[in-house]
Amino acid sequence: MIIPAMSIKYLNYYIMSTKHSNGNNGSHASTVNKESNPHNETNTHNKSTSHKGKATDSRLEEFFHDELKDIYWAETHLVKSLPKMAKAASGEELKDAFTEHLTVTKEHVNRLDKVFELLGHKAEAKKCEAMEGILKEGESIIDDTKDGTATRDAGLIMAGQKVEHYEIATYGALARVARSLGHDEVVKILESTLAEEKQADENLTQLAESSINEEAAEEVK
Ligand SMILES: [Fe+2]
Ligand SMILES: [Fe+2]
Repeated sequence: MIIPAMSIKYLNYYIMSTKHSNGNNGSHASTVNKESNPHNETNTHNKSTSHKGKATDSRLEEFFHDELKDIYWAETHLVKSLPKMAKAASGEELKDAFTEHLTVTKEHVNRLDKVFELLGHKAEAKKCEAMEGILKEGESIIDDTKDGTATRDAGLIMAGQKVEHYEIATYGALARVARSLGHDEVVKILESTLAEEKQADENLTQLAESSINEEAAEEVK
């Protein structure tokens, strides 16, 4: 029987591929792949790395440092704004909530000082446009509402919650980036602040729901 040249070539290819796949399940095949291609692993070890194999000069590291400056600006400005919010509130519970959060916020600044120190940087602030806007909006709420009214308190709660939500988003994202960069101690610090921001937000929700919004709804112009 005469076998065409193309068929012989195909037959050889078939025999070779059967030999290679015979008896190999998926996982074994991947092990063989790793063994036959040791260069992948060698390349990883050759990178400029910190502990845990993370690059110390990555763009993400630079971005992370920049974002820390942003939240540092936000927290230091909140230390100045929270007393104004406490003073503007008329309900005692709301005043206390802002005053208590001022103490907590001062600690957030201290924690960021520690984070900068752990990363080998000096603590530095970079203007946070978003927080500046949220705080300006809070001031306009005070200007636009009457002193001693529940409506102002309802507005202050809203302003406070906008601040907390910005902080929750920032600390949550920063903690995840810190984890990716291998800064485990920094992750713990950022997560402890994140938990306190969530608690502050929850406290404000409870104040709004317990009485303040209902009272405000009954106020006439
Ligand atoms: Fe904070
Ligand atoms: Fe906060």
